[in-house]
Amino acid sequence: MDFNEKSKTWDSEYRVNRAKKISEEIGSYLNNESKGLEFGCGTGLISFGLIDSFKEFMLIDLSEGMINVVNEKIKENSIDNMKTWCGDILNLESDEKYDVIYTSMALHHIENLEETLSKLNNFLNISGKIIIVDLTKDDGSFHDKDFKGHNGFDIGEIKSILRKSGFDVLNDGRVFYSDFKDIEDKKHKYSLFSICGIKKEDCED
Ligand SMILES: C[S@@+](CC[C@H](N)C(=O)[O-])C[C@H]1O[C@@H](n2cnc3c(N)ncnc32)[C@H](O)[C@@H]1O
Repeated sequence: MDFNEKSKTWDSEYRVNRAKKISEEIGSYLNNESKGLEFGCGTGLISFGLIDSFKEFMLIDLSEGMINVVNEKIKENSIDNMKTWCGDILNLESDEKYDVIYTSMALHHIENLEETLSKLNNFLNISGKIIIVDLTKDDGSFHDKDFKGHNGFDIGEIKSILRKSGFDVLNDGRVFYSDFKDIEDKKHKYSLFSICGIKKEDCED
């Protein structure tokens, strides 16, 4: 999927409104933590919706186009507590630790989820949280035919991968949002779930 091209028009009214609901959902898991990292931040819609929730932010995305949009927003709004990093998370070398990692609609684009979630686990303080928002299982209609990622997830599947990646699962997960996506002349119903994991104590490296 060409997210550099998509970055130019990503902030549609529809996505901005959906992002508000996602930020609220992620915010409902927070408890005055200080440092947050967003994985697959796109144009930053979710983090900007959480702007009062953390003292320091790190926003990460593979797409240069997306990160350029975030950097412009940071500059325009004179934000001094938000850093960005452009690249594949698997290539990020850093000793920095965070209290919370959150991600929206990015994991279904990731081939090796266990490797990615284990890598994210390394960037969390002990008992730090990971909050995942993603698509529930879908028949494939949500994406184009050439899409190579996951057609959404069963919550049970995500729970199992979280456990294998060094997390305890905090809740059963919940479906908090559903809507219709216009696909050609049809409306395709989809929904989003959230789930929270906690870094296990024996995961310190
Ligand atoms: C569907 S967009 C979601 C953007 C944003 N989170 C939102 O909800 O509006 C998925 C984002 O994940 C990013 N992404 C995909 N694979 C990635 C990886 N390995 N490392 C970092 N970002 C990645 C893409 O570049 C894209 O911006």
